[in-house]
Amino acid sequence: MLELADDSVQLMVTSPPYPMIKMWDTIFAKADPKIAALWRELEEDGKEGTVRQIYDSMHLYLGEVWRETYRVLVDGGIAAINIGDATRSVNGKFKLFPNHARIMEVCEKIGFITLPYILWKKPTTKPTYKGKGAFLGSGFLPPNAYVTIDCEFILLFRKGNLRSFPPHDKTRYDSMFTKLQRDEWFSQIWALKGTRQTVGELERRSAAYPYEIAKRLVKMFSVKGDTVLDPFLGSGTTVAAAKLNDRNSIGYETDPDLLPIIIKKISDKKADLAPEIQIIKR
Ligand SMILES: C[S@@+](CC[C@H](N)C(=O)[O-])C[C@H]1O[C@@H](n2cnc3c(N)ncnc32)[C@H](O)[C@@H]1O
Repeated sequence: MLELADDSVQLMVTSPPYPMIKMWDTIFAKADPKIAALWRELEEDGKEGTVRQIYDSMHLYLGEVWRETYRVLVDGGIAAINIGDATRSVNGKFKLFPNHARIMEVCEKIGFITLPYILWKKPTTKPTYKGKGAFLGSGFLPPNAYVTIDCEFILLFRKGNLRSFPPHDKTRYDSMFTKLQRDEWFSQIWALKGTRQTVGELERRSAAYPYEIAKRLVKMFSVKGDTVLDPFLGSGTTVAAAKLNDRNSIGYETDPDLLPIIIKKISDKKADLAPEIQIIKR
């Protein structure tokens, strides 16, 4: 994130492409030719070790972003990462790829302090049998059914010490949340519906998280006037939440086709916001 100076961002909120979830395979393969070559190798050798190398390489790619995030965050800055684990059959073998655990390990190595995380429980996911679709009749027989993945993680990390403010700092008090909000937002399970992905191919491709998630995180972990970063912007939910809650924001997105959707998302919420957007193409 060459444009960003060290210690210049107070909060990072993001959801990256999820390693080993099929819809993101192409993005990883395009981003890193080594990953594309490993997929080809897997077709020929079918080895477990090659699958592990693919998974490791995907997390190495994401790890570069977590490292850059650490650099640009201020002391006491927070990183919030929405990630789901993946289940997948590769060469006929079904297994879990625990993305949340890998990201925690990587971020700890970078120097982040791991904080208690949030589980986003989606009410819509159906139970699966052998990793395929809904439970069938045979799913009532032990012991070969799998537990359904119906939660995603919102991992939380801090860089360095707690942020400090002068006593009775006005901006901080102006950013206060209510008791009701505190009780709900700071509990570990958030039961929230996912965003409808059926609107169109582009929106589906962006795999947006609900505005409510971005809004809560912005209000919980930053104060008005802070800068919020999203290195995997998608449809722009994070910058919309930042703008609407009086924070500055910066986002990175590699898919140029999403630009009109990002602009629409921000403009939809508050018509006068669009002129403040600065787009840097490289
Ligand atoms: C899960 S989506 C983000 C969805 C977003 N939270 C929202 O609400 O719309 C991940 C996004 O990261 C983008 N992406 C992948 N690699 C990237 C990179 N190296 N830099 C910037 N964006 C990237 C993808 O194109 C995709 O739009």
